[in-house]
Amino acid sequence: MFSNHTVSGFNIKNLLKFRNSPLHFLTEIRELGDIVEIGHRANRKMFVLNHPDLIKEVLVNKTSSFRKGKGLQIAGKFLGQGLLTSEGDTHKRQRRLMQPQFHAKHISSFAGVMVEHTEQMLDTWVNQEDRNIHRDMTELALEIINKTMFGHNLTEDVDQIGEIIEAGSRRNIQQAKSVINVPKFFTKKADNRLQESQGYLNRIIYSMIEARRKQPDEEHQDLLSLLLAAKDEDGTRMTDQEIRDQLITIYIAGHETTANTLSWTWFLLAQNDAVEKKLWAELDEVLGGNSPRLSDIPKLKYTNQIIQESMRLYPAAWMIGREATEPVVIGGMDIAQGDTIFMSQYAMHRTPKYFANPDQFIPERFDHDFLKTIPTYAYFPFGGGPRVCIGNNFALMEAAIIVAVVGQRYKLQLLDSHSVKPEPLITLRVQGGLPMKVIERTPRV
Ligand code: HEM
Repeated sequence: MFSNHTVSGFNIKNLLKFRNSPLHFLTEIRELGDIVEIGHRANRKMFVLNHPDLIKEVLVNKTSSFRKGKGLQIAGKFLGQGLLTSEGDTHKRQRRLMQPQFHAKHISSFAGVMVEHTEQMLDTWVNQEDRNIHRDMTELALEIINKTMFGHNLTEDVDQIGEIIEAGSRRNIQQAKSVINVPKFFTKKADNRLQESQGYLNRIIYSMIEARRKQPDEEHQDLLSLLLAAKDEDGTRMTDQEIRDQLITIYIAGHETTANTLSWTWFLLAQNDAVEKKLWAELDEVLGGNSPRLSDIPKLKYTNQIIQESMRLYPAAWMIGREATEPVVIGGMDIAQGDTIFMSQYAMHRTPKYFANPDQFIPERFDHDFLKTIPTYAYFPFGGGPRVCIGNNFALMEAAIIVAVVGQRYKLQLLDSHSVKPEPLITLRVQGGLPMKVIERTPRV
């Protein structure tokens, strides 16, 4: 039996709290019930799930009764019909085509690129200087995704692709966050500019696809060539437009989340000396001063636990939304078509019932197959079910490599003058960046 609750008080008051300080609101209502009705908008109710089994019901068992929430529906205007935003049979087909391309055997070939770019970044660092580590992590994750998508024939166009995609996604966030529909007149200029740059973006991407179709490259297996080679059971391949949509989707989905995870990891390590020392001991023992190779990653057990624990406390994807496409019962509550359900990794990952000392950073909690002892959806940084993150292995490998390469050479120290706060945008960011002093562990002479 699941408990349910309707949050009393003014509907608008709840919605404003939810909009203005969602992390606080979601944590506050966590104890009210397994399923909590928080209010309504345009006659459509909104619920928050606080029980892992109910989250499983929505993400896994009754997934066909739901589609993505409003935010991602709006994002579809910019992302097109990529894996993140497509629905139904289109999504199923895309997933079938793309899943093999994200298999470990392909992803593992990207390890070298990850090490190389991290080392290049470190070569620009100066001992004892202050740096915005969040900017460094974002630029690094962008370089890695660029290189793994477009491989060796990167051109200067790639920088522009990045800028246009960033601008497009920012405009999208504004639209998604807007509580009222702003009349087109007021947004016309911004939208026209966006449309122009999207046209330009499409021209660059389509010309890269065309060039690669004409001259396939067996040797360098970047994501573009993997997508071009992907074949469905009936022999059909993705069209140019589908490939364009997937590339932009991967670009957006594949760098900010990883960059945030890394920023939070450096923030947590800087506050926990004992964890940091244990990390260094592992890196020195397993790597012995050498660059990590693919085969080293599973041996970096504690490094991987640090990343798991960082994603528990500061999950880059801090909330998932779904909209019911038909009437459905969840936890004994009638959900009508058009109602929205929210599931928050941030609130669930800090539930004392599943995580002792939930606000503390304790990577050792993942020892002894800890995750097998709690319900599966008490910890779900990558979502779950048919829409689970397709890049999860990519992200975990990338995060482990970057923590290992940086941790071998540097200690990152927080600046007393800066207070760090989470900012829940589409992903859970570090508000105002992350200034840190970088200190060489064994200064070079
Ligand atoms: C720490 C890093 C990452 C986190 C926390 C993360 C989290 C997530 C989550 C929670 C979802 C499910 C969203 C939902 O159900 O509504 C998702 C989907 C997705 N992610 Fe990630 N992600 C990360 C890295 C990546 C990377 C590196 C890539 C690509 C290289 C990627 C590509 C995608 C795609 C394409 C989807 C849509 C999958 C589908 O709907 O079939 N992600 N991600």
